[in-house]
Amino acid sequence: MKTKERVLVLLEEFKGDFLSGETIGKKLKLSRSAVWKNINELKKDGFTIHGVSNKGYCLLSDCDRLSSEGICAFIDNECKNLSIHVENQVTSTNTLVKEAGACGAPEGYVLVANQQTEGRGRYGRSFYSPESTGIYFSILLRPKMEVNEAATITTIAAVSVAKAIQKVTGKEVQIKWVNDLFFQGSKICGILTEGALNMESKGMDYVVVGIGLNVKLPQNGFPKELELIATSLETKGQEESRNRLVAECLNCFFHYYNQLPQRNYVEEYRKRSLILGKEILVMSTENGIPARAIDIDEDCHLLVEYENKKQEWLSSGEVSIRKRF
Ligand code: BTN
Repeated sequence: MKTKERVLVLLEEFKGDFLSGETIGKKLKLSRSAVWKNINELKKDGFTIHGVSNKGYCLLSDCDRLSSEGICAFIDNECKNLSIHVENQVTSTNTLVKEAGACGAPEGYVLVANQQTEGRGRYGRSFYSPESTGIYFSILLRPKMEVNEAATITTIAAVSVAKAIQKVTGKEVQIKWVNDLFFQGSKICGILTEGALNMESKGMDYVVVGIGLNVKLPQNGFPKELELIATSLETKGQEESRNRLVAECLNCFFHYYNQLPQRNYVEEYRKRSLILGKEILVMSTENGIPARAIDIDEDCHLLVEYENKKQEWLSSGEVSIRKRF
């Protein structure tokens, strides 16, 4: 680990409190001038560190700069082996992690970005990923599962993000089958799961689960086309720690993933469903087919009933909530 990163780990550990240059120097075996030099480098990287004579240095509690050190400060033991990388700007974390997967990177490689220039959503859509207000990250997995089971990864991710949000912010979000999270009626998070098939084993070679969460409102608001459908977690005056949110999402995700056969996420998925019992449109045609969402089974498949009373189990696809005018 570079000296700068070691200084950051220490500041993260005491975030909001002052540490004297001498204490930092002693703990990390650095001279006072080396401490000063590294603090300045961190400041240049965008970390808001206050230096006060006789008190020392303090990483301000509202400093919301993403960093692997900041994330690792909240990571559970179960996730200590993850390899977490943070970049300021990337094209798309999913695209890059897929490339890493194809080159043989091991399970547990995580790429987090402060901004994406080519963020991707489902069905070839783009995913708006402005700087410093959201979290965009992808996890590389090598699960021993058949292709038709891979959808469970998406559902685990949805439940994990919902629970992480509740733990960090106290806010309750709901899941719109199959992979969108909603807060106060608007979308705050999308999940894109992609993978590659191993032709010999007929199982998955790798799976990449990508999560995009709007934490704060973008500086100039959402673009016109998203204004009515997207929102963020932000509440006036309340700071949400993006590092902690990423860490709690990973903690929860790997907790469920490591005990996949027990399916102990299904109940939570049902409980948080935004659509159960509601009138929806099944978007298998351009205008959607009117139906009612009846049930969600152990595989998180959705039972719908069409207007002609015919029922169907859906394993994938998209639904939207019918609005009454
Ligand atoms: C959707 O709403 O259709 C899914 C959006 C998924 C967005 C995330 S952001 C991190 C990862 N990288 C991407 O390019 N997409 C996913």
